[in-house]
Formats: sequence, structure tokens, C-alpha cells
Amino acid sequence: MKRLLIVALSLGILSLSAQVKSSVSEDPKMDKFINDLMKKMTIEEKIGQLNLPSSGDITTGQAKSSNIADKIKKGQVGGLFNIKGVEKIKDVQRVAVEESRLKIPLIFGMDVIHGYETVFPIPLGLSCSWDMAAIEQSARVAAVEASADGICWTFSPMVDISRDPRWGRVSEGNGEDPYLGGQIAKAMVRGYQGIGDKAYSSNNQIMACVKHYALYGAGEAGRDYNTVDMSRQRMFNEYMYPYQAAVEAGVGSAMASFNEVDGIPATANKWLMTDVLRKQWGFSGFVVTDYTGISEMIDHGIGNLQTVSARALKAGIDMDMVSEGFLTTLKKSYDEGKVTEAEINAACRRILEAKYKLGLFADPYKYCDVNRAKKEIYTNEHRAVARKIASESFVLLKNANKTLPLKKEGTIALVGPLANSGSNMPGTWSVAVNLDKPKSLLDGLKSVAGNSASIVYAKGSNLTADQALEERATMFGRSLGRDDRTEEDLRNEALEIAKNADVIVAALGESSEFSGESSSRTGIGIPDVQQRLLKELLKTGKPVVLVLFTGRPMTLTWEDENVPAILNVWFGGSEAAEAIGDVLFGDVNPSGKLTTTFPQNIGQVPLFYNHKNTGRPLGEGKWFEKFRSNYLDVSNEPLYPFGYGLSYTTFDYSDVKLTSTTIDANGELTASVTVTNNGTVDGSEVVQLYIRDLVGSVTRPVKELKGFDKVFIKAGESKIIDFKINSEMLKFYNYDLQYVFEPGEFEVMIGGNSRDVKSARFTLN
Ligand code: NOJ
Repeated sequence: MKRLLIVALSLGILSLSAQVKSSVSEDPKMDKFINDLMKKMTIEEKIGQLNLPSSGDITTGQAKSSNIADKIKKGQVGGLFNIKGVEKIKDVQRVAVEESRLKIPLIFGMDVIHGYETVFPIPLGLSCSWDMAAIEQSARVAAVEASADGICWTFSPMVDISRDPRWGRVSEGNGEDPYLGGQIAKAMVRGYQGIGDKAYSSNNQIMACVKHYALYGAGEAGRDYNTVDMSRQRMFNEYMYPYQAAVEAGVGSAMASFNEVDGIPATANKWLMTDVLRKQWGFSGFVVTDYTGISEMIDHGIGNLQTVSARALKAGIDMDMVSEGFLTTLKKSYDEGKVTEAEINAACRRILEAKYKLGLFADPYKYCDVNRAKKEIYTNEHRAVARKIASESFVLLKNANKTLPLKKEGTIALVGPLANSGSNMPGTWSVAVNLDKPKSLLDGLKSVAGNSASIVYAKGSNLTADQALEERATMFGRSLGRDDRTEEDLRNEALEIAKNADVIVAALGESSEFSGESSSRTGIGIPDVQQRLLKELLKTGKPVVLVLFTGRPMTLTWEDENVPAILNVWFGGSEAAEAIGDVLFGDVNPSGKLTTTFPQNIGQVPLFYNHKNTGRPLGEGKWFEKFRSNYLDVSNEPLYPFGYGLSYTTFDYSDVKLTSTTIDANGELTASVTVTNNGTVDGSEVVQLYIRDLVGSVTRPVKELKGFDKVFIKAGESKIIDFKINSEMLKFYNYDLQYVFEPGEFEVMIGGNSRDVKSARFTLN
């Protein structure tokens, strides 16, 4: 076994000497202000600060809050969420600062997940841009718009790693890779809050909330809210980094996840909330539950409301969303000696600190400038940003015979249940959107093509043949509307218009509500009724382009074999329609790369690129070998690997050059490739760096993403792409959960996706 080089454990799990930072802030003025205020507060008023009801304007969960105004006057409310409209927020704030005894302002939160009224692609789509500046800008625009409407706190970024496309909430995260997820977490926090001392310095910077801490994306069988159980090695090496990265970026708050971790719901898990989050990572913000996370612990089976509320507080939870467990039981627990005043004080202080940092004590109406909303929301400038980013998020999965781009001429038959719906474009987590605003694909294509092409439309089919499924999916959401005609009638109408067309664009897949919260599925293919339509369209012999709408990786094996071109557009936001047009007509060359593996079939799930080798790996390029780790009926390969995505040009990669084949602990080497755009159009390529630790004290993944560079290369030109490699990048959590690197041999792989790479080796001494 290799000699272990155990480096400073400042990031290590065993760093027991670290202190809980939040009780000792670095701002003496703030400390004095809060100390003075807390001296005036009764225990009930302190508990009141920990209470976060829902306004009821927007439905994001089952339970409802009541008598809010009354509770605000009594000092029983610390904040309010999902209330829409600056005038309304101003009114509520007025009640808090004029009619409650201590006049403490409220904090106003909302699920501003991928934009406000200007909506960006769903986060999974956004991540496929691999463009950190653009992602940061999307959060910035969202912060400007939300704050112009009175919101000062967003429940974003959601950074849960997931490897299970059955889970509806894969749509909300950044895919399967912790390194990429960490970079995105940082970009989002910067975009919402601002950086370092500059955070919240303006009234258009809002507090972020990293969620759902922790491991929410690893629920068993992809079923929402389900049990999570995994080794700590897996947690720290594969799932935790994005949360930690958000903390490193200074995120102001964190949200506990619904699931259990090690047999204890996250909401009562002291190891998670205090030992790791605060002591280990130095988080100094406040932690809010996810919705009724506290009362749900009764169903988890760990006690009655009083018990679970006390457990949550003691674990390190500061704010109770909706349950009112804190509000209704903490005083009793305090009287009975089950929680201490110090514990209540710590939570209350963290909430007050957040309000102070946001500037709400200095000016409770800082985010209530009623003139801003008209000028700063859904502006042309913001919409242009959203259109550009949307076009970067689309992933070209297949393009045989250069079917794409389309020419802006002739007749284009646009067919499919998703072709003529604007309200489907924004995706599910766009609670502030005005659904009348987004254009349908039909209108988007018309606007991009202009008058030179004729675009004819037919619905072709309903979304699914299973009406009950559709009703369940759209229970609190947006229905596409069903057409009462028979499947055959709808299809015939489509075939009729397709007859005279030069090309068919089929807008198929899932509607937005088929992914998102409480929208898990066990079948992740295009619904049967749409597939039957697609087959008939292909029989016409015309070129067919599948424009795929989806919030998750789908199984597309048949489509990949039979459809000439597939462009995955996710749910691209309020400006998606024209952005899709930009890409289909070649005004924008697609550059998105998958951040999540697309399996060949659902039985392969979970399938992810950074897996372990096992003791019986399948030989390279083999389909099946007896007594090896594989399936009888499907190869081990994904349909589309992590990092994959085509362009209207092609990129050639040279061999990997290393400046040295050895480094030591303090050294650095550079790995380079020359990437050549050998097509006829300019394009952007995401050059990806993977590393494999060939021998470890514990088993190591076959490859891990360690860097990437999105570069624009003109047709016919080449660029040299350099990646610096040092020992810090080779660290991992070992068996004892120490964060270390180990000397030995490493393989460097560089390529345009996780499968097709060029490699070289070096040794760490
Ligand atoms: C439940 C969701 O899990 C979470 O993401 C969201 O922020 C809260 N509800 C509040 O709406």
C-alpha cells in the first residue's frame, strides 16, 4: 500500500478543533446591535423569529399556514415565503415594523430557482452550458428581478448530485458530477449575493440558500423523499462537494433535506447540521428546514411534534418552514429543560444576523422600492441574456447527414403535443413567471425564420394516452390541454401536413410537469402515443428532426437508431422558443454537453461515468463476458455519455502532452491538447479533463472530472488548451475520511466527452 501523505486537515473530517463560527461574528457593530436587541426579546419573541410560514400565494407543498398577519403582530414570525408582488410585501413588512412590539423586519423568501419572470433553462439544462460566467449572470438577473419585486432571499442553488433519472428533481440540479456541481454552486451564489464584503451591498443582491442538505438526490429507487443510505466515503467523495463549495462561496443560508442520512432525518441530524456544516466547513449562516421537514419527522417515526422540534433545534436547525413545531412546542421544551436558552439564542441570532447582513434593520424597505418592478423585470436586456443562455444549454444528440441546421426556406412541418405551448417552456420551478409571456415553439420558429420559410403545424398526438397520469403530473401545475380527437385523427392531420413539407420537426418528450418535485417516473422513454406518431412521421421518408423536451435523461435507444437528428432542449425558459429557432436554423451553433448520463434502458440505472472498476470489469469494447460485471441483455455503455454533445462542426483532439511525467507534493505539471475545428463553421467546444488514480488505499473511480474549458474556435483554426495539475486536485477522502493525496501513478484523460478521450500518465512522488 502506498505511503499516505496526510495534509493539513483544515478540510478534513477529523478537524475537531474547529469552532462553530456563527456565534462569534467578525462584525462587532452587528454583534452589538444584535446583543442589544436580544436583551429586549422575550423567549417567545426569540422563538417567533424561527418561524417561517408560507404566504399561500404559490403552492409548493401540502400544508398551509394561517393567521399570518396576527402572528406577525405578536412577534411570532421571522419571515414569509412565496409571496408575490412588491406592494404586498411592503404592506406585510409594514405590519412587522409598525405593529409588532420590537419592530423586527421580516425576511421574504421565494423559490427563485432559474430566473424570476425572465426564466432561464431548468438547472439541468443550464449546467449543460458548462459556462460559469453565463450561469452566474443568470443568477444575477434573477436576483435583480426578484429583488425588484420585494424578495430578498432565494431558495437556490439546488446542488443535489443525482444519478437516477427516475427522480423528478434531476431537472433541478446540475447533473451527476460533484466537481462541476461545485463550480456551478459557486457561480450561482456569486450571482445572487455578490462576492465577499460586497455581498448585499446593493438592493439587487439577495441571499442564497444552498439545498437540499444533504444527499437528497440519492433517494432509493429515484422515488422522491425516499430513504438515503450510503457510506461516508461515497458521501464525501461523490455527493458533498457542491454543498461545501456553496459554503466556500459564502452562501448565506442552507436548507435541510427531507431524507434521512444514516438513519436520522437530515432535519434532526446533528452530525450533518453542526459537525460537518458548521464545524467542518465553517458555515456561518442559518439553516432552514425544507417545508414541513420538522413535522414530517413524526412520520419518519422519531417522535411527536415536541420531540422532533427539540431534536431539530439541537441538531442545528434555525428556522422552521411551515411546520410551526418551533412556534408551538419550543417554549414548553424550554420550560421542561429539554432545550436551553442558549440553543434558542443561537438560532435566533443567526436569523437576526441574516437580516442585519441584508440591511433590513437599516432599512426594512430596502427591497420594497415599488418603482423598480416596472423597470427591472422581464426587460428586453434580461430576455436577450436568457435567449442566449438557452441556446447554449441545448444538446445536439444526433445529426446524421447534416440534417441540421435547417434552411430558412421551403415548408417545415412542425408536429407534436409540445409544439404549440408557450406555458410549457419555462419548466416547473418558475413560480414567478407570467405564463402568457413565453412564446410557443411554433411562434418562435416563425419569428426566427421570418417570411422566407413556411411553417405549418399540427398537434399530432396528445402528450400521453394515459389521461390519469397526465392529471397526476399536472395536479398543481400546468396542463398542456388534451385534444378530444382520436389518436388516429390527430396523427392523420399531422401526416397530411407532413406530405407537402420539406422537413418535419417533431416536438416531443415530456411536458414540464413530468419532472420536478413529486414527479418521479419508472419509465423514462418518450410516451408511447408520441412514439407511434414519430414512427409514422419517419415512414414519410422526409428528414425528421426530433426536438426533445425533457427534465431528465430519457431512454432514446430507438430514436437514436431511427431519427436522423435529435436536439435536446430541456425546458429552456421564457425565451426558449426563439433560442430553439436560433439553433435549428444555425444562427447559433450548439455547444451544450450533457452533465448527466443517458442510459440505453431504465434497467441500467443508476449509470454514471465516474463509477468504480469492480474486481471483474468487462474488457474494453466488450459487450459480454461470462463471470464479468455486465448484463445479458444490454451492454454496459450508456446511450450518450456524460460530457457528450455534438456541434455543427467537428473538433479534433491531438495527443495529450505533459510538461513532466512526475510531480511532487508541491509541484505542478501542465497537460495540453491541441483542439482543431476542422469543419466549416465556428463553434465552441467544452474541453474536459479527467483523471484516474490508478492505485489507491481505497478503490478509486475509473475517471473523475477535474477541469474543463469552454473555448470558441473559428472554423479551420486550432487552439492549445492547457490544464494545470497539482497534488491538491488528486485528493480524496480515504478510509478514515482524511482528505489526502497518495503518491503513485495517475492517468490524465482529455476529450470532448467522458468516453472519447486521449490519455497520458504521470507519477506523483
Ligand atoms: C419544497 C422543496 O423541496 C424546496 O426545494 C422548496 O424550496 C420548498 N418546498 C419551498 O417551496
